[in-house]
Amino acid sequence: MNTNELFSLKNQVAVVTGGAGWIGSHISEALAEAGAHVYVADINEPNVTTCLERLRSRGLKADGWIGDILTDKTARAMIDDIAAATGRLDVLVNCAVKTKSSALDDVSFDDLQFSFEAASACLVTAQQAVLEMRKHGGGRIINIGSMYGQVTGYPDVYKDLVPPNPIPYQAAKAAVHHMTKYMAVYWAKDNIRVNAISPGPVPNPGKTAYSVNPAFQTFVERLSQRTPLGRVGTPDEFRGPALFLASAASSFITGQILFVDGGWTSW
Ligand SMILES: NC(=O)c1ccc[n+]([C@@H]2O[C@H](COP(=O)([O-])OP(=O)(O)OC[C@H]3O[C@@H](n4cnc5c(N)ncnc54)[C@H](O)[C@@H]3O)[C@@H](O)[C@H]2O)c1
Repeated sequence: MNTNELFSLKNQVAVVTGGAGWIGSHISEALAEAGAHVYVADINEPNVTTCLERLRSRGLKADGWIGDILTDKTARAMIDDIAAATGRLDVLVNCAVKTKSSALDDVSFDDLQFSFEAASACLVTAQQAVLEMRKHGGGRIINIGSMYGQVTGYPDVYKDLVPPNPIPYQAAKAAVHHMTKYMAVYWAKDNIRVNAISPGPVPNPGKTAYSVNPAFQTFVERLSQRTPLGRVGTPDEFRGPALFLASAASSFITGQILFVDGGWTSW
């Protein structure tokens, strides 16, 4: 296999949950550029439409699945619908997320449960995808974790600017990292590789909470100071890592958490 073939996803089907989002839309595009038929599975219909328009205008093969995939029933239905339409499934990227922001002293049982629905969906979409992948000799699953699944935040980064990144989010991401390793070990016999990409700070200036907050620039500066590379990340910087883990280029890699964080978790 030459290097181009190593990174090729030609004739393969990929599903990206949260695939119309800030980072997910870049992952969707990268996998489509590599030749995959990409399904953008996301609850945000306008963003799915925009994403599909961009991909199709470039001659890439992309379809949408619009709905809430963060429940047991819908997560499984989404995979079944796509597999029924395409006859196969090679790559699953679990990128969709939801959480509630509340201070540590106020976090409730329900807040924790709410955030864990996203982690649970990672598991059930993967279970359902594996049923399809086994029929065709294997596949690749990529779960999107977070640097905050490995380390917690510095309180002074958030102080007086924005609410701290909440504990239910971080606990759920730690669960995603651990489940990645578990799935990798037990599905290896099926030739299914499971890895995680763990983003560092990639703040989205378009998010309402930020764009109305004049402190956004200060927040970015504080995050940058805590990052060895001296800056925050951009969503296009997830294209390479996602394609690497989705393709034969990473054929001997499974159960790994790839930190794409500018070095944040290294010091
Ligand atoms: N941006 C960062 O700084 C950062 C840092 C660490 C980890 N991450 C992780 O990266 C991933 C992408 O984050 P992002 O910054 O692009 O966020 P985002 O909000 O832009 O993307 C999340 C996507 O998930 C979709 N989604 C939410 N609930 C859904 C549901 N119930 N069903 C289907 N789709 C649903 C949203 O519509 C959105 O398109 C997430 O898993 C996030 O936790 C992001």
